[in-house]
Amino acid sequence: MTYQVILPAAGRGKRMRAGKNKLLLELNGMPVLIHTLRVFEEDEACDGIILATHPQDDEEFKALLKKYRVTKVINLVPGGEERQHSIFNALKTVKTNGIILVHDAARPFIRKGHIHRLTEKAEETGAAIIGVPAKDTMKKVQNGGVVETVERSSLWAVQTPQAFRVSLLKEAYERAEREEFLGTDDASLVERLDHPIAVVEGDYDNIKLTTPEDLYFAEAIMKKREKEFC
Ligand code: CTP
Ligand code: MG
Repeated sequence: MTYQVILPAAGRGKRMRAGKNKLLLELNGMPVLIHTLRVFEEDEACDGIILATHPQDDEEFKALLKKYRVTKVINLVPGGEERQHSIFNALKTVKTNGIILVHDAARPFIRKGHIHRLTEKAEETGAAIIGVPAKDTMKKVQNGGVVETVERSSLWAVQTPQAFRVSLLKEAYERAEREEFLGTDDASLVERLDHPIAVVEGDYDNIKLTTPEDLYFAEAIMKKREKEFC
């Protein structure tokens, strides 16, 4: 079981309001980008990383790859206007026919065990995503009022990585481009091909660093992980 992974890293981090790409912020003295890259660098099943970067960050990212001796990045591609465009640019450079993962560079806490479970599922079924059951009561709200309470047991919060057969993901991205469909995740593009998508249960720690308070959660997760490895 091997895979390649696309890491979209070309966002501007507007909601983080850090004045720079949030992936350059440090956790325990190391940039978020490197925390995420290391998971894949250290996973023997990963045989290539494709990184989508913003031109403004190119030089800094390259210097970081060198400084932290990241060796598995086989391609740096220019990001696009939206996340989906960044991933499509990266996907066009993929030469293998096996399994491709897409993982937000802003999720540094993904665990190797979950990556492997997901990859195995995608090998079996063609498409698999990771997520967690919703914990809160969920309501549909419109114009400041409740429309209905949505049955919680069937609702999951979906994360990355998402894993696919390369040919399937390429077909999904090409179709989305033709039909000018913009989705908020990769699976939503594959769903439009009517291909089933398997769901693997992940963990609640796999947060995406999005707004400033996420940095406090990140510090807490780092502390918890340090204890786990003691
Ligand atoms: N991303 C990307 N290209 C874009 C937009 C986002 O590669 N045009 C990447 C981000 O770098 C991030 C991931 O997609 O790793 C998830 O996006 P998000 O959390 O929304 O990050 P940003 O777009 O940077 O943040 P914001 O939306 O607050 O500006
Ligand atoms: Mg964004």
